[in-house]
Amino acid sequence: MDKNRKIYIAGHKGMVGSAVWRALSQLGYSNLIGKSSKDLDLRNQAQVTEFFEQERPEVVINAAAKVGGILANSEHPYLFLMENLQIQNNLIDGAHHHDVKKFIFLGSSCIYPKMAPQPLKEDYLLTGSLEPTNEWYAIAKIAGVKACEAIRKQFHKDFVSLMPTNLYGPHDNFDLRSSHVLPAMLRKFHDAKQNNEPVELWGSGTPMRELLHVDDMAKAVVYALEHVLPEHLYNVGTGKDVTIKELAHTIQNIVGHQGTIQWDSSKPDGTPRKLMDVSKLNNQGWKAEIDLQTGIKMTYDWFLQNQDTIKTNILS
Ligand SMILES: NC(=O)c1ccc[n+]([C@@H]2O[C@H](COP(=O)([O-])OP(=O)(O)OC[C@H]3O[C@@H](n4cnc5c(N)ncnc54)[C@H](OP(=O)(O)O)[C@@H]3O)[C@@H](O)[C@H]2O)c1
Repeated sequence: MDKNRKIYIAGHKGMVGSAVWRALSQLGYSNLIGKSSKDLDLRNQAQVTEFFEQERPEVVINAAAKVGGILANSEHPYLFLMENLQIQNNLIDGAHHHDVKKFIFLGSSCIYPKMAPQPLKEDYLLTGSLEPTNEWYAIAKIAGVKACEAIRKQFHKDFVSLMPTNLYGPHDNFDLRSSHVLPAMLRKFHDAKQNNEPVELWGSGTPMRELLHVDDMAKAVVYALEHVLPEHLYNVGTGKDVTIKELAHTIQNIVGHQGTIQWDSSKPDGTPRKLMDVSKLNNQGWKAEIDLQTGIKMTYDWFLQNQDTIKTNILS
């Protein structure tokens, strides 16, 4: 891959987009472009078309999306469905009509049916009902996967979709009303340690989750950028999972919280298990490298160093 190719990273200030930007810069890619949502609102088709006309990127990495946890998704179903559809439709169609050579679409493991066999294979897409708490977001993402597949099929273009498992790392969202499980726990244990209090966590603690450090995710994006992958859809994860209880104890130890943990079983658990089968991308040559303990330590260090600037409520 020519390191001077013009690469547009949509959502370059987000957790994934900024990790991809760091990874590409470190590898010597010198023609990266990014626009904040203030300068380019990707929900607005006219603005996106004008951007493609002016900038003419050769590669597009779509790391822009409206992202949130269970609570945010269940309280704002229309927003998660419609904004994600608008953002990805404008990017995919704009790229298609402006001769983009390669498009990398990022979805999420929540596109797979709630009760699909584990580990989740790419083939299980659209074989059953979705987890109701985030089906709005999932349906938008499925539409994005299908749009890229259709472009591949009909126009033979290199549009590929990567489905990351739960991600964590620098620039994550630590706001308790809209964050995912790992950053929410990190924040709760940190605050409880400062205030010498117990920690209250949602659900029963029995669901299992797979967690991937965002720098490993960025390497998967780089891999997809530098290789022509033979299929349209690839899972990205570690292939290993832990219970929410194990995760809580690991975070508690890393943060150094000494108090008790109270489980509020009146709150929803979400999907019982969500482990990805990552053999397809592993067989192509990409593998996760950062273990959970190391990744959480790195994230907590980043959190401590960036407390003044960490993300607050994305829905405000
Ligand atoms: N986080 C996870 O655990 C996870 C797991 C699986 C998949 N993913 C996928 O990875 C991708 C990136 O997620 P992330 O965690 O990096 O999210 P994030 O930190 O919330 O970043 C999202 C980015 O999207 C941009 N954006 C949102 N609405 C926009 C709009 N209307 N116009 C322009 N830009 C807009 C934001 O730009 P501004 O900052 O400029 O507003 C932000 O930089 C998403 O597709 C997500 O589905 C994430």
